[in-house]
Amino acid sequence: MSFPAQRPRRLRRSPALRRLVAETRLHPADFILPLFVREGIDAPAPISSMPGVFQHTETSLLDAAEEARDLGLGGIMLFGIPAQRDAHGSAGLDPQGILNRSIRAVKERVGDDLLVMSDLCLDEFTDHGHCGVLDGTGSVDNDRTLEIYAQMGVVQAEAGADVVAPSGMMDGQVAVIRQALDDAGHHNVPILAYAAKYASAFYGPFREAVDSQLSGDRRQYQMDATNRTEALREVELDLSEGADMVMVKPASAYLDILSDVAQISDVPVAAYQVSGEYAMIEAAAANGWVDRRAVVLESLIAIRRAGATNVLTYYAAEVARWLQNKD
Ligand code: PBG
Repeated sequence: MSFPAQRPRRLRRSPALRRLVAETRLHPADFILPLFVREGIDAPAPISSMPGVFQHTETSLLDAAEEARDLGLGGIMLFGIPAQRDAHGSAGLDPQGILNRSIRAVKERVGDDLLVMSDLCLDEFTDHGHCGVLDGTGSVDNDRTLEIYAQMGVVQAEAGADVVAPSGMMDGQVAVIRQALDDAGHHNVPILAYAAKYASAFYGPFREAVDSQLSGDRRQYQMDATNRTEALREVELDLSEGADMVMVKPASAYLDILSDVAQISDVPVAAYQVSGEYAMIEAAAANGWVDRRAVVLESLIAIRRAGATNVLTYYAAEVARWLQNKD
């Protein structure tokens, strides 16, 4: 009888050994918390498909931002839900619109201690729910949308956004936003590009979160789930256009893409654990079918292990509290 000379189990024997050899760790600064602010409500509104997540009032948003700062999160990502929408999404360009005035208010409250990022997209602001303006045939008009994105980037930077995050998947969006920011003197505002963003059913609950008016889908501009090589092309284009950070989205069902992107990217890579990923964990946990905390942590470890430097997740604040043993 010969016994194994190699025994990988040796390093798994105790929590202390496992901690020593862990290849992936979680830290509050890894996480970016998406926050929703809705115009015209006087109490935070629960989002039924995302238990524990709320549409904030302009006041409760400030409290959530303060908490994010106190927990040492990497940042917050702001989404605005306007009271009025139109075909061109003009509320997104209005310096006094809900998103822009919220960026300003949050920055006034938290100062430089919390990174405030803003979603740069039209879908929350258009009455048809698409990420851009429509042409005569009902398709999103890429180049007319670019002109609006360029202005939006400047308005958000002027409101005080530390990072702008174009999420509309228009061709050339990073280049025009970079150019517009530079022309307006905002050389130091980085762009976090949603580079490989797939047309995904995992965004379902987000539609409720932003009260989306979309009736069709986004398959003419977001990526097709079948494609892997194309993600590298999208990322390379965004890098060549000046993206300071790139993102893969969704996260869990796209870990192969994340791993590929992490290998070719020479800038930080973020991944977005989206609304449907959150909702599925919550639903299973509420039924007692999985151990909620363990599944949340494992899902985030997996995303980091696949190559994400940062993770946008609705669990950001809660996980930061766990990591700091605050509950
Ligand atoms: C577009 C945007 C979406 C999400 C983030 N930014 C919706 C979409 O592309 O359909 C989804 C985020 C989530 O599902 O958590 N502004």
